[in-house]
Parts: sequence; structure tokens; C-alpha cells
Amino acid sequence: MKGNQRGSRIPGFYKLEVDERLKKLLDASELNEDEIHILNNQGSLTIHQADHMIENVVGMFALPLGIALNFVVNDREVLVPMAIEEPSVVAGASFMAKLARARGGFKAWTSQPEMIGQIQVLDLVDLDTARDRLLSNKQKLLKTAAEVDPLLVRLGGGPRDLEVRLINDSPIGPYLAVHLIYDVRDAMGANAVNTAAERLAPHIEDICGGRVHLRILSNLADRRLAKATCCIPASQLAFDDFNAQEVRDGIIEAWAFAASDPYRAATHNKGIMNGVDAVVIATGNDWRAVEAGAHAYAARSGRYTSLSTWSKDSAGNLVGELELPMAVGIIGGATKVHPSARTAIKLMGVETARELSEIIASVGLAQNLAALRALATEGIQRGHMNLHARQVAIAAGAEGDIVDRLAEQLVQEQVIRIDRAQEILLEMRNYK
Ligand code: MEV
Repeated sequence: MKGNQRGSRIPGFYKLEVDERLKKLLDASELNEDEIHILNNQGSLTIHQADHMIENVVGMFALPLGIALNFVVNDREVLVPMAIEEPSVVAGASFMAKLARARGGFKAWTSQPEMIGQIQVLDLVDLDTARDRLLSNKQKLLKTAAEVDPLLVRLGGGPRDLEVRLINDSPIGPYLAVHLIYDVRDAMGANAVNTAAERLAPHIEDICGGRVHLRILSNLADRRLAKATCCIPASQLAFDDFNAQEVRDGIIEAWAFAASDPYRAATHNKGIMNGVDAVVIATGNDWRAVEAGAHAYAARSGRYTSLSTWSKDSAGNLVGELELPMAVGIIGGATKVHPSARTAIKLMGVETARELSEIIASVGLAQNLAALRALATEGIQRGHMNLHARQVAIAAGAEGDIVDRLAEQLVQEQVIRIDRAQEILLEMRNYK
């Protein structure tokens, strides 16, 4: 990973106009002027490219793209692109990344990039014998699967193992689920895995005499995990009237709620995914796959729970950890076709999918901390208020300078509603 040698701290970035931010980004990153323009949506995806990506194309759908600052992941400075419509997410991640810098930022790891291809085998008379036969033909099946993608094998990937699961509690009676474990290296891997699973199907039928039904990857990618940790000195957590211990312990109590209650865990994990998805989307990856994997992993014990943990160490520091499946790639699909996605990957200086996964997990953890810190203290509305008020002001029809004036008044009145915004706007216009 190259990272951002010039650093991920750009003081006052949020106060600048968009053009000035782009200039700062040019100085702070390895991107050239053309690439900076691509991030600014000029020279990005064309309608012609879009027309080749999906069906019935009539246009393109834009999202704001922000840069999260202050991230240090595995000792590298990283500027993180985030595509998201929700206010406070980019600011929250950047702020928590700043707090984490005091202890070296985020440490992150990934497992091997192994995906699972599932092959459902039905109509078996003797499931135990069928399983034994499949397992004794494992090497032959793995060899067949390796022939599907010789390039991936040359790059160090390819089939790794074959497991056979007996599924007993199904509405249609017992059957076998064959799992093909497949190292996809730097790809997201859906195509490679699905092709290999389809290729194995007739061989599996020949070996065990059953009928192969589905052949598809599993989004519960629990062999392709990313984990991030951070350690925040309690002193970093004090603000306004909230003292350090109070904030730290409040964050741990907030996490305990998610750890023990699925209703809270769903929202807690949604906060994590605010950070995760924004980077997954900015890099052209399949956020539905990552979402599905995360929530299924959160329920792996049989009860849906928090994907993160927060505790204090013996020195009183706040320690956070996040682990989740991370099926993202940096080659193939939209990651290569979409100019903004390519540029986003270059901005981060990542050279492998595993490095990208480590950054994404770190952003998820930072985002989780931002939400818990706010919830455990002043509540999240204050942080949301200003940007939300601006959005309401624009929706009410405000333009130019009026947007900020109207938003300020809405915040002051603590009534951030479109009907009130329209009233004030009318008053402002009549007064003129
Ligand atoms: C809002 O998008 C996300 C939060 O609800 C997350 C959380 O409650 O932890 C603030």
C-alpha cells in the first residue's frame, strides 16, 4: 500500500469551497489534475459506459462524494473517499480518526480472500454415503474447479477446499450443501465463484447420484473477514461539560445495549454500515453483498448482535474492535469500469483488495464510535441539525446566501421543518 505520503490531515478542509478543497486534494494526494476532475464528476462515468453496465439505462444517479480526513490505517496516512447522502457521516468518521491518531490510528487485519460457492444437492437416498463419496473425490473436484480460471490460479488464487454440510432442518427434507472454498485474490469474486460452482455441478451429480439445484456464492463470506481495532486515550473523549471517564463509560454502556438487544444492535450496526457502505460505494463495489454479509455475520451465534465491541484497557483507554465479512475487490466490475471508483481506489493508494478491506473496516469502526459518542452524550440531533437545516432550506426553495441564513434561523428556533422554512422564506422575500 502506498498510502498518502503527504498525510491525511488537511486542517480547515471543511470550511473551504469545493474548488479549494480540490486544490488541497491535488497537493495532498497522488492524484493528477485529470483524476481530481474525475472526483469532481467531470470525465466520470459516461452515459455510454452506463448503458453497458445495466439494462434500460435512461441516466445516472449522483450521490455526494466527501473525503474523510485524519485516517491512519496500519501506520499509513489515508484519505478516504465516501459516497453518501447522509449528513454528519464524513465529519463523524474524520473526527474519530483524529482522536485515534493519538495512539497511532487504526490497526487492521484481513483473512485470506476466500469466498464460498454453494451447491445444493437434492434427491439423495443416502446422504452419508453421498457426502463420503464427495469428500473422497475432493481433489478431483478441486482440480476441475481450478481449470475454470487459470489466470486467477497463476495469481495465487483458485479453489482451496471443499466442504460438505448436511442440512437437516429444511422444509423439503434433508439435503447436502457443498461448499467450494475459493480464493479470489483481488476480485470481489462473485463471477469466479459462480462459474466454478456451475462447472462442478455435473461432476457432483455423477459422483453422488443426486440432483444439483442451486449453484451460487454465499454472501455470508465468513472466510473473508476484515478486522479493525483502535485505542483512544480517555482524555481525548472529554468535551463541553462531559468528562473523559463519563464519555468513555457511556460509550461502553451504549455498546452493551447493542450487544444484548437485537433491536438496538440493528441500529448500532446500521451506524457501522454508514461508514462501510460509503467507501464500498465510492470504490464501485457491491454494497448489497457487504450489507448481507455483515448482518448475517452479526447473527452467526443464533442471536443478532453488535458487530463491534468497546471496552476499556488497564490504563483506562477506550478500546474498540470491529470484525465483519468484507467481499470487496479492486479489479473487475464497476471498480475498473467506473472512472470515479478507479480514482477513489487510487486516492487511497491501495494495491490489494485486502488493504481496501482494512481501510473499510477502520472507517466502520470510526463511524460506530462517532455515533456512540454522540448518543452517549448530547444525542445525535445537534450534530445533524446544521446540515439537515440546510437541506430543508434548499427543499423549501432557498438559494445562494439565503440557504445559510434560513438554515441558521431554523436551527435557532429548533424547528427544522419544511413548512416553517417556507414561512420564513416568504417573510424574507416580503421583507426585501
Ligand atoms: C444513523 O444513520 C446512525 C445511528 O442511528 C447509529 C447508532 O444509533 O448507533 C446514529
